[in-house]
Amino acid sequence: MKIDLFEAKERLLKGDVVAIPTETVYGLAASIHQPHAIQKIFLLKGRPQDNPLIVHIASVNQALDLMLSIPEDFHELAERFWPGPLTLVVPAKIDRVPNVVRASLPTVALRFPSHPLAQELLKLTGPLVAPSANLSGRPSSTLPHHVEQDFGSSFPVLDGGASSSGLESTILIEKNGWVMGRKGAIPQEELMDWLIEDSATVSSRPLCPGQYYRHYSPLAKLTTSSTYDGTPPVVLGFIERSYPGANEVIELGSLNHPEQIGASLYDKLRLLDRRNIPAAWVDLNFPKEGLLATIAERLYKSCQEC
Ligand code: TXA
Ligand code: MG
Repeated sequence: MKIDLFEAKERLLKGDVVAIPTETVYGLAASIHQPHAIQKIFLLKGRPQDNPLIVHIASVNQALDLMLSIPEDFHELAERFWPGPLTLVVPAKIDRVPNVVRASLPTVALRFPSHPLAQELLKLTGPLVAPSANLSGRPSSTLPHHVEQDFGSSFPVLDGGASSSGLESTILIEKNGWVMGRKGAIPQEELMDWLIEDSATVSSRPLCPGQYYRHYSPLAKLTTSSTYDGTPPVVLGFIERSYPGANEVIELGSLNHPEQIGASLYDKLRLLDRRNIPAAWVDLNFPKEGLLATIAERLYKSCQEC
């Protein structure tokens, strides 16, 4: 059910959960001051409690209010990439950011979205926690009707149109220097000036708790192997390639335009289920560079067997 900005504000301030648009994906939002609504997000999504939530803010000052200390280069990163699809994990003021938001970690993930409607809303409500607006493990939502598919047609959605990037924010974590927590809408190559060189060796375990869990999977069984032998008969592939033996190719777009692939990736994954397609082969044979590295990671994780 689509609602307007005023109703979204009213509902959030009285402790409801509302789906909101961002430039990456839709979020399932609650006010940081409404613990019951925050709990409801975990229940609605079926999200494990040990997976913390991103706090969305509409100014650097709002971010500073929630931070215990300011890591080196924080201001530089904020100036360069905010508002936009970069999430920064920093030391939290634990009395300002409830435990349930942080999953009891001493840090908080902060994101300043560039979507104009998200910004207008955040100015009216103050900080909002919001995970992606999908059932846990399923593809994220980039359109209002995706949210309704997962949470029902009467679920309130602030309609901001299609999310332009279609891939979640890139997450950087401060660990005596910045390291990648999650690939995302800003390619790693654009962040090299800020990342410490040995990012990969900082930890062999995922740095974002959410990275432990299955993600982005449609009900369709997705497979990937280096060569395609005609089974299953449906292929998720690219415009410039041919797939001998396939009955149907669902085109993800052109490898020359990764931003277009990103924008409709989750819609294509959701399409498989809307059409009751039981299985598909995913073409992962492309260079994992720039945004294509993020797209490859999402597709890889969406293969249930991987
Ligand atoms: O683009 C996005 O980031 C979207 C939109 C709605 O803003 N949000 C999103 O939220 O992708 P979610 O909950 O689907 O993914 C957030 C990720 C999870 O992997 C979680 O574990 C990680 O961020 N995270 C949150 N707080 C963290 C923290 N304090 N330390 C490490 N990882 C954290
Ligand atoms: Mg998510």
